[in-house]
Amino acid sequence: MADGYTTVGKMWHPSLYIGSIIDKHDDRVAILPPRIKESMPSPEPKPGEAGWLYRVLEPYYSRECVDNVMAAMLEGQISSGASWPRKLAAEVCSLYQVPVALPTSSGASALHVALLACNLGPHDHVLVPTLTMVAVANMVKMVGAKPVYCDCAEGSVNPGVAELKQKATPRTKAVIVCHTYGIACRDIAAISELCKEKGWWLVEDICEAMGTKADTGELVGTFGDFAVTSLYANKPITAGDGGWVHAKDQKHHDRLKSLINHGFDPAYHFLHFETAPNAKMNGLGAAFVCSQVKMLPRLMQHRGQVANWYREGLAGITELRCIEQRQIDAPWVFGVETKDRQTRDKLRDHLAAKGIETRNYFYPLHLEPVNFYGDDVGVYDVVLPRAESLAQVGFYLPTHSFLEQGDVQYICSILRSFYQADSAVSAPRKHGWVDAERSKLLTPS
Ligand SMILES: Cc1ncc(COP(=O)(O)O)c(C=O)c1O
Repeated sequence: MADGYTTVGKMWHPSLYIGSIIDKHDDRVAILPPRIKESMPSPEPKPGEAGWLYRVLEPYYSRECVDNVMAAMLEGQISSGASWPRKLAAEVCSLYQVPVALPTSSGASALHVALLACNLGPHDHVLVPTLTMVAVANMVKMVGAKPVYCDCAEGSVNPGVAELKQKATPRTKAVIVCHTYGIACRDIAAISELCKEKGWWLVEDICEAMGTKADTGELVGTFGDFAVTSLYANKPITAGDGGWVHAKDQKHHDRLKSLINHGFDPAYHFLHFETAPNAKMNGLGAAFVCSQVKMLPRLMQHRGQVANWYREGLAGITELRCIEQRQIDAPWVFGVETKDRQTRDKLRDHLAAKGIETRNYFYPLHLEPVNFYGDDVGVYDVVLPRAESLAQVGFYLPTHSFLEQGDVQYICSILRSFYQADSAVSAPRKHGWVDAERSKLLTPS
């Protein structure tokens, strides 16, 4: 193929995704270099005929959420300008003890406006973890800056100070810390100090770490200039889709408010002093999630129990390593790491055959195909060995608010039966059990 990028050469805004000029999956993959092809994820395992008995994540909410949506509808309070987004902001400010919080349409849009508020642009570098969700790099690119990918620290899913320093350049202007999988970044306090010393912005992406506590006991999301989160349906509390951005300093309020709302100015309607997206959350979503904020500490306590049950249930399987354990161990998702890639894939198939859904650890962002062609060509050629190795062997198990000890014991027994024939116990649940539990939560009292 001509310069090795695409069938038509280098495109200005290249996308090889569905509907673009290369619409066959195999053709898109065929052009990738061996380094990506050899490490890219295998196709996802399928459940047995009965379907999934345990989904990896489940949305959890109560009757109060439904009642609040009904109240919003009856009062006509359904838009971003309604009272519910303001009530949600007040709940967030109270939980995180911050003066500024603004509900957004998603975690990605929250990150977008936080990065815009940092005034980042072309030529600026932003240090980001490579083992995280693609929205992190996408939003850096959306503001015109360049993501610089950092490896994980030894024994961690997050980069530490050393990994950030190693990738810093004279053009570094900001750092995004992600607390991946709800594992608090163990160096967060030191990273915050480093950012102050260097004059870098610190944005904490707590999309996977809402309610997570650092080793010091403080909530993550209170160390950075800005924190952003996601309220997508797989998160411990949810609006279906949504998120928020919060800031430690009151001075950011007006700018963030403008940035989430087309650059509207409170003094002059239809006179715009900056270009900005519409990143606001609608009133129905805010009404739905508002009462969940106060549930978060209880939900995180339960996450801690789930982690504990998994650690107990998997103890003694020498070939399986459990995800990094911090002082306050309550991950959003509970991960395990096998000895090699083949075992990981076979073990996931084994669990899927029993209706247990799992998800691979992230594929490192620097290896994503978008970094092979177009303006980011060459980025994939960097080697970040710890993240690359974790991506080959790691995956996470069902972790959600409906799970009880018997469920985790069952899942652990299926894992054990992969390594030691004969140890599986019988399933404590029938298909559809989560929907039945959810309808109990939604029954009017
Ligand atoms: C670390 C991280 N950042 C950003 C996002 C984007 O959030 P959303 O899907 O709400 O846009 C996610 C999504 O889960 C995430 O995991």
